[in-house]
Amino acid sequence: MLNVAVMGCGTVGSGVVEILLGHVESIARKAGDEIRVKYILDLRELPAQWEDRHITDFSVIEQDPEVDIVVETMGGVGAALEFTRRALLAGKSVVTSNKEVVAAHGCELNRIAKEKGVCYLFEASVGGGIPIIRPLSQCLAANEILELRGILNGTTNYILTRMIRAGLSFEEALAEAQEKGYAERDPSADILGHDACRKICILSDIAFGRHISPEQVPAEGITGVTLADVDYAGAAGKKIKLLGRAVRQADGRICACVAPHLVDQADPLAGVEDVFNAIAVRGDSIGEVMFYGRGAGKLPTASAVVADVIDIASHQGHRKAMSWDEGGDDVVCSGDVLKSRWYVRGEGDLSAALGCVQSLTRADAAPAESACITEEEMTRSEAEKKLTGVKVLSLIRVLD
Ligand code: HSE
Repeated sequence: MLNVAVMGCGTVGSGVVEILLGHVESIARKAGDEIRVKYILDLRELPAQWEDRHITDFSVIEQDPEVDIVVETMGGVGAALEFTRRALLAGKSVVTSNKEVVAAHGCELNRIAKEKGVCYLFEASVGGGIPIIRPLSQCLAANEILELRGILNGTTNYILTRMIRAGLSFEEALAEAQEKGYAERDPSADILGHDACRKICILSDIAFGRHISPEQVPAEGITGVTLADVDYAGAAGKKIKLLGRAVRQADGRICACVAPHLVDQADPLAGVEDVFNAIAVRGDSIGEVMFYGRGAGKLPTASAVVADVIDIASHQGHRKAMSWDEGGDDVVCSGDVLKSRWYVRGEGDLSAALGCVQSLTRADAAPAESACITEEEMTRSEAEKKLTGVKVLSLIRVLD
């Protein structure tokens, strides 16, 4: 029998407990061993039927030699990071959905896990229930990964979908996302692109083998996207999507960024709606593969956590290793090296500033407003330089 301790019984943690307690037999069959939830660590009250497992002191887990696997679903960095370090040092495997901890400290935690001969697994940290970490690290291992791009945040994808489909303003769509429980009460990590940034960093760590810190990756959210931009994008046959991208350059460095993009309606990413996520991976042997599914939510995310627990249980004595090397300034290059066509909305003569453009129109435009897509591909700073003297209201990349 393997004993599991779940730290943090919020949305995802309670989903993990429900699945582990609700599927005891099928999980035991797949794991090759019975899995028992011995402890649930949380300062809050728990449902009465879980009270006999309830603890509030982490050292109970740390000092109990019977605990084999610790599930960290606390969120945040402070206590979650400290307890993860201590659990690994105490010789326990750790499974987490905590992208903030993995993105910033995964390299160190993998190293401790290796030294102690235990596992640190985090399938649920990117894409919720979508299998992506394991496919990227194992199934696609024969490939040099050339590019990753994806819709990595469910909340912002929901907001953009509602702006496009129902004509809601950004503020109205955000309020709706909060009402439905998709967005956090403080939604800044979602809408400013920080959550997607952590996720593209984790995927890049695995795909390219060196640590890429969220601090090295420029992140732009969707707070500047307006219904006027949505209309102009529609007139060009495109949809606005928040994408995380990481592209390997010829010199081996990685150019990563998070930003809104105009995506052609024929691109599979344009069809990813509501809280769904999708990740496209381009490898030198496989070409392009795509992963799609529920990127957030209690049971989808808990299903990925429990899969990691089962993986550890079914490979006892064979450590499941995940690792990448330390990062550095030589790993990452500025997002500005990525050339693209640009969608511009502004006041003034855009075609005089930008040269050949595809002009766009929409109903109800103010007389001074104009919008276009450049024909020439350029970096952001080249576009900004050309636009000196024009009042720019929106400047958004086009994904070609
Ligand atoms: N806030 C995140 C999202 C949750 O909306 O995608 C899953 O990481």
